Amino acid sequence: MNRQLTPNDMSSFWMPFTPNRDFQADPRLIVAADGMYYTAHDGRQILDATAGLWCVNAGHNDPRIVEAVQRQIATLDYAPHFNFATPQAFELASQVAALFPEGLNHVFFTNSGSESVDTALKIALHYHRMRGDGARTRLIGRERGYHGTGFGGISVGGIVKNRMYFGGLLTGVDHLRHTHDLSRNAFSRGCPEHGAELADDLIRIAELHDPSTIAAVIVEPMAGSTGVLLPPVGYLKRLRELCDRYGILLIFDEVITAYGRLGKASAAEYFGVKPDLITTAKGLTNGVVPMGAVIVDEKIHASAMANADAPIELFHGYTYSAHPLAVAAATATLESYRANDLFARVAALAPVWEEAIHSLRGLPHVLDLRNLGLVGGIELESRPGQPGARAYEAMKRAWAEGLMIRAAGETIQLSPPFIISESEIQALFGKLADILRQID
Ligand SMILES: Cc1ncc(COP(=O)(O)O)c(C=O)c1O
Repeated sequence: MNRQLTPNDMSSFWMPFTPNRDFQADPRLIVAADGMYYTAHDGRQILDATAGLWCVNAGHNDPRIVEAVQRQIATLDYAPHFNFATPQAFELASQVAALFPEGLNHVFFTNSGSESVDTALKIALHYHRMRGDGARTRLIGRERGYHGTGFGGISVGGIVKNRMYFGGLLTGVDHLRHTHDLSRNAFSRGCPEHGAELADDLIRIAELHDPSTIAAVIVEPMAGSTGVLLPPVGYLKRLRELCDRYGILLIFDEVITAYGRLGKASAAEYFGVKPDLITTAKGLTNGVVPMGAVIVDEKIHASAMANADAPIELFHGYTYSAHPLAVAAATATLESYRANDLFARVAALAPVWEEAIHSLRGLPHVLDLRNLGLVGGIELESRPGQPGARAYEAMKRAWAEGLMIRAAGETIQLSPPFIISESEIQALFGKLADILRQID
């Protein structure tokens, strides 16, 4: 031990994606949760309008999930999945695959969204190489995209601050233009009408590099962390068509949209566009135990099996792939979604949610309101020279008033658990309206 421990010392924990110094001056500490509410350390009930970080879709401390994890830990704590396996991992993989569009039949387990993204990018590169098309090495992301924080994810991602401090990143990466356009689309209800033609940016990139060098395009069908950016009507279909034209794999990063957020099991289903790979995490286990999953199309898996040049078909995996606790949590989470018909509940609540968020139109600082399924984005005008400061202050005020919201840049993001009631939706937007009137 190299120093004396001090009670309540907050200096050791380097918090992720947080202004650490500001937090320590005015901490927001959580000690318990139940249903729609967190309990703060001072005993206050806090309405969770963000499902934690887009993960607690079934609400907090769902008894089915709690019991499943408790049972599992008392039975089998850990088992490796390199050369050994638990029967439950196979059962879960079948159940997960069944939720996604036909043909997406195989599941690779990871521990997070970032790992799912790296896994999907690697599977895409591997696929082309094993088919003898090894010149296809380029990966195409999109400006303002968020794909987690691994080197793969930040390379294809398009958020400047997540990239600029970390060196040269992966080589051979290019980016489509983003689709955010307030001049044409502000205050759209649901997906914006204008911008499908932005998918044609892939033509420019394909002509620049030659399509035969491009392995995959990765996009969030609905982008969250960059500020809730919805795809223009027709954009994703167009992107799919272009990928098909050029022989490029299409990856949907559904870390926040999979498992019901838009009222369907996946955004792929919601938009009627089938990608070749889907990355997921978060809602898979309701956030209870870390877990991610990449859902892989039959043709990719079959090719890996047929073209393998060694007994191991894919040299990739994690110590905790299919961790028994995560498998138990995920299996119980999927049961909960089914038993409570939660995806249909999202679809039913979506119009109520849409009305409620658009009631904020005209309030101070509001530049745009965006909604889809149970997702909301409130884009604020920045104070001169202080991008993000207003949304951050709104987040702090909301906490003081018993509400957890998320600030990303100058957008307030909302993504409540699917069990939110209509009266809680009204209370949430009532409070938000007050907060917007209070901040300068
Ligand atoms: C679209 C998307 N991809 C990847 C990630 C990264 O997930 P994780 O934080 O679990 O690594 C996130 C996290 O918010 C995300 O929204």
